[in-house]
Amino acid sequence: MPAEKGSFYITTPIYYPSSALHIGHAYTTVAADAISRYKRMRGFEVFFLTGSDEHGQKIERTAVSQGMKPIEYIDRIVEGFKTLWKALEISNDDFIRTTEDRHQRVVQEIFKRIYEQGDIYKSQYEGWYCTPCETFWTERQAPEKVCPDCGRPVELLQEESYFFRMSKYADRLLQHIEQHPEFIQPVSRRNEMVNFIKQGLEDLCVSRTTFQWGIPVPFGEGHVIYVWFDALTNYITGIGYLDNPELFKKFWPADVHLVGKDIVRFHTVIWPIILMAAGLELPRQVYGHGWILLEGGKMSKSKGNVIDPLVLIDKYGVDAVRYYLLKELLPGLDGYYTEEAMVTRINTDLANDLGNLVSRTLAMVERYCGGAVPVPAEYSEVDQELVTLAARVVPDTEQHIERLDFSNALASIWKLVARCNKYIDEMAPWNLAKEGRQDRIDTVMYVLAECIRQVTIQCTPFMPLLPDKVWLQLGIEGQKELHSWDSLNWGRLPAGMKVKRGSSLFPRIVDEEDQKKTDKEKGKSRPAAEAPKETAAPPAPAEKPRISYDDFAKLDLRVAQVAEAKRVEKADRLLELKVDLGTETRTIVAGIAQHYAPEDLVGKKIVLLANLEPSKIRGITSNGMLLAASDDQVVEVLNPERVEVGSRVK
Ligand code: MSP
Repeated sequence: MPAEKGSFYITTPIYYPSSALHIGHAYTTVAADAISRYKRMRGFEVFFLTGSDEHGQKIERTAVSQGMKPIEYIDRIVEGFKTLWKALEISNDDFIRTTEDRHQRVVQEIFKRIYEQGDIYKSQYEGWYCTPCETFWTERQAPEKVCPDCGRPVELLQEESYFFRMSKYADRLLQHIEQHPEFIQPVSRRNEMVNFIKQGLEDLCVSRTTFQWGIPVPFGEGHVIYVWFDALTNYITGIGYLDNPELFKKFWPADVHLVGKDIVRFHTVIWPIILMAAGLELPRQVYGHGWILLEGGKMSKSKGNVIDPLVLIDKYGVDAVRYYLLKELLPGLDGYYTEEAMVTRINTDLANDLGNLVSRTLAMVERYCGGAVPVPAEYSEVDQELVTLAARVVPDTEQHIERLDFSNALASIWKLVARCNKYIDEMAPWNLAKEGRQDRIDTVMYVLAECIRQVTIQCTPFMPLLPDKVWLQLGIEGQKELHSWDSLNWGRLPAGMKVKRGSSLFPRIVDEEDQKKTDKEKGKSRPAAEAPKETAAPPAPAEKPRISYDDFAKLDLRVAQVAEAKRVEKADRLLELKVDLGTETRTIVAGIAQHYAPEDLVGKKIVLLANLEPSKIRGITSNGMLLAASDDQVVEVLNPERVEVGSRVK
């Protein structure tokens, strides 16, 4: 994405108000929003335009089929668009509707200008038309009488029309594409378009006479302007082509037209030729992203499988939905949506990785540093390694965002998140506390808090609600200068700020089905580490048979210390613990998640049945079982604090 100027203009397609929008449309707009927010953070003056494409035969037919006037029908749907963009925290600077006066004037002006210079002429059209795509096709392009794009039947049109001399501009366009490799991105789309243009361009029919719902040709009674000619022109109306020359000068040419792969052709063939004919500069880039597909293929109203983003926002929160969409699509490729994958993504990346990092760190700052970010002492080699990684992540994230590769931008940030979580385990601050090494604790806590600040800044374009929550918890909500991209250099976080641990940033999502199953099974008696659901139930009253001391001596019971704790995905009662036995570290799964938060266990001593056969629980091999006592109300983990790790229990 070129960025050699102080202003930055980005657009989304303008959406058809033929029905409500789904997560595919949401993807384009969220992606454009993420870049806009990023560019603003980098000091660019940004203009971000989205809107609605309201004319054409399809809309007219849909409205009529519902017994409404087109504008009445459209007004209602466009209100829905605006509600959705608000719910998704979209920061567009304007919303253009093609039925607005300001737009009609621009379209007529451009059409007239091209006509007067001889590039639009009147003739007879005979050919095929796909109304759902609002696209003309020749006999050669649609030999089976179906639309090559969407596969639906095409209609035969025979009418007097105005034609646009596209053929005249084919060579100039090819030359432009060759000389500006960044014009069509990703590269795969550029190759497709070059092949398409090389097959030869025919003049385009740019007016219709058989319906009325469009912008009239200013000099041609009964003709309305072809809806794609009308729609594409929105990109110059929106920045004041006729009304505000200063704004236009500042923002044209557009830096990026972000579009789905299906409409790259309109944006890289018709639109540039309109601009060439009108004597205007071409946009710097058209980026064609892939589609979000469902397992059964495309989303469509007729299949009844359309995923409503508002429902997802309501269930999972806007930041989580945005994160999922941006993480899921790789540059230029299609991605698949399933709700299950989305929940897994949220639980893994957001609740476990990022959410836990923040809550563990703040819990330890409270416990070991009196609740204030400490002054770091001297950095050890491993601390320095984190500082270096943090510095490397920033340019990586920047490069990926500049290339509109949001998935890898997030992956780059998450490298630091993952390293921080590992660092906590390696540094084991609970051991440092036991050893009285306050200097080390202070340094480790500072490193973690500063990494959290840097991660949060880089997440801001993607998850706009997250930062304020983190700033509040880190105690720097009033210090705006510490939230900016420019402050991404090590050590800006001041020591001494009181942290305020709040509710979890991304609560884990519990699968409803899983919950039901768990509830049903509740009450059966099994040991804590193996079938943890049952620890909450009262012990079975039945007496057990007496055993010999030899029987008891078979149990290898030892004191261990919890080094790490996290929730198990999709299991609301399970925690996965890493426990230190002095001689080795084990992984166990314990059914105490409803009684202990993971961070409350870290550093605690427990009693471990160390020679229990390992068992696999939710795909995790549990190698041992912690002992807990329980009654009707309480489950309490046995906690011998005064003895050394590794001590025998007998
Ligand atoms: N009105 C035209 C665009 C005119 S721009 C001058 C149009 N509208 S649309 O509502 O049908 O589609 C708008 C955008 O949504 C397109 O970029 C399209 O690729 C995108 N998407 C529609 N379904 C999609 C997915 N399932 N996944 C990702 N994007 C998808 O075309």
